[in-house]
Amino acid sequence: ARRKADTTMIIQTIRMKSVTAEGMGTLSVFEAEHDVPFAIKRIYYIHNVPAGVQRGGHAHKKLRQLLWCPYGKILIKLDDGFEKAEVLLDSPDKGLIVESNMWRDMLWQQENSVLCVAADSFYDADDYIRDYEAFLRHVGAEDPAKE
Ligand code: TYD
Repeated sequence: ARRKADTTMIIQTIRMKSVTAEGMGTLSVFEAEHDVPFAIKRIYYIHNVPAGVQRGGHAHKKLRQLLWCPYGKILIKLDDGFEKAEVLLDSPDKGLIVESNMWRDMLWQQENSVLCVAADSFYDADDYIRDYEAFLRHVGAEDPAKE
């Protein structure tokens, strides 16, 4: 496989500002463009997922997203075609920026975990790459066996 320029994969996580009221819980907040490096056009959330289920299995050509888990424990597996990394979302104040051209799988590690996503664009089915080999070609990281 061709090697990417000599860089390591940058995984950008953010900590939401959190305000705890003694004995009354915590408020966590982030602001588009200030705490997240883009304007937000769409928010969606994935729920009612049994533990042990894996979703995702795709990349986006352009879409940029912030993922966070307000309740539960979800393992996010990222792959830029050259390197892989994992981030465990296990705290309501932890956010993960997923840039475009990242293959992602999300593994539900705890029943009733909720995955929230803030995205910089409206839904566009044409922005998805759902075939892993096509993804590798798209990012210039073809399978060496095929070269
Ligand atoms: P998908 O992005 O494949 O979810 P996951 O990565 O968690 O498996 O989306 C699941 C389905 O929902 C798919 O049929 C597309 C649809 N969908 C919308 O209609 N609008 C949206 O904004 C999103 C994110 C998905």
